[in-house]
Amino acid sequence: MSETNRTMIIGSTGFIGRFIAEASLDAGHPTYLLIRPGLTSPCKNNTIKFLQERGAQIIPGSINDQDLMEKALKEHNIEVVISVVGGESTLDQLVLVEAIRAVGTVKRFLPSEFGHDIDRADPVEPGLNMYNMKRKVRRSIEAAGIPYTYICCNSIAAWPYHDNTHPAEVLPPLDKFKIYGDGTVKAYFVAGTDIGKFTIKSINDARTVNKCVHFRPSSNLFSINELASLWEKKIGYILPRETITEDDLLSAAKEMCIPRSVVASLTHDIFIKGCQVNYSMDDSMDIEVSSLYPSTPFRAIDECLDEFVMKMVDVAKVVDKAVGSDGIKNIIANPKPEGIVMNA
Ligand SMILES: NC(=O)c1ccc[n+]([C@@H]2O[C@H](COP(=O)([O-])OP(=O)(O)OC[C@H]3O[C@@H](n4cnc5c(N)ncnc54)[C@H](OP(=O)(O)O)[C@@H]3O)[C@@H](O)[C@H]2O)c1
Repeated sequence: MSETNRTMIIGSTGFIGRFIAEASLDAGHPTYLLIRPGLTSPCKNNTIKFLQERGAQIIPGSINDQDLMEKALKEHNIEVVISVVGGESTLDQLVLVEAIRAVGTVKRFLPSEFGHDIDRADPVEPGLNMYNMKRKVRRSIEAAGIPYTYICCNSIAAWPYHDNTHPAEVLPPLDKFKIYGDGTVKAYFVAGTDIGKFTIKSINDARTVNKCVHFRPSSNLFSINELASLWEKKIGYILPRETITEDDLLSAAKEMCIPRSVVASLTHDIFIKGCQVNYSMDDSMDIEVSSLYPSTPFRAIDECLDEFVMKMVDVAKVVDKAVGSDGIKNIIANPKPEGIVMNA
């Protein structure tokens, strides 16, 4: 293990955080995980145990505690801090920024971004409120003079459900597709493992200091219509399509049911307004990750969908054992009467 890049990750038990923690360990960086003490789920416990077995060291605490954060940063000579806290904890990062400023030895801070360029995108509420909080964190980092990198990784490679904050945790549709608008607006779909890998590459790179790093791999630029067709090829069925109109998405956003309405407002911004593709990177702040590491490929969306198929096969095997059904075909066909068999 190298003794440089001593990295503290905050939020490693979360959806995006686990990818970051695994990538830090893969890169051989001394990896410290700040874990909130208290009640936790068996799933989170398993994640912590898994990361510990891979060499991560646990620091109990919360970013709301400035004294504790200063002590931890000093005691472990932390050089890089990556925050991957969820939306509800966005403003807690202001205390963390103060701790990093006070200690003065952190060489790079990555706040919890991991989505769009929040200074450019302009979603409707309640997404806007979340962006305003993230913008406040950006301004506090810049005012404190802390070297930073903002990761704008766009969408995670999964079906972009407009009511699910963690879409990669569920299978793409098996009954019908909900297509946003006319389904032609494109977005970048990036594998969670690549979000982790390229984030960790960027912390050690002088070219990314005080920059927005955009993940825009041209091979992973798909419209939702194209994504639906690709998934149909994988499962061997054509599924019906239901249109979710702009008004439907705006109504779901207006319900102000958090976090679901935040996802609806961001879905509107992506698939109706085209917020991932409606700008060019002409600002001196911007840098595209593929141009930084041209010889490191991104995982193709095709490969990511194969992984979902493998998960279906695993589920089918369990069901086969339990009820003696006929495997993956039944799993797909039985609950989905509207599906049409492509390859009999
Ligand atoms: N690009 C995409 O497709 C995408 C998708 C989802 C999220 N995101 C973005 O990724 C970021 C992370 O979101 P997420 O959904 O991965 O979050 P998440 O699953 O809710 O996980 C949040 C993590 O932060 C930890 N945490 C929260 N408050 C903390 C505190 N005060 N002190 C220490 N740890 C704290 C939580 O710990 P506990 O275990 O104690 O709760 C948990 O590990 C957000 O900025 C979000 O907008 C992007």
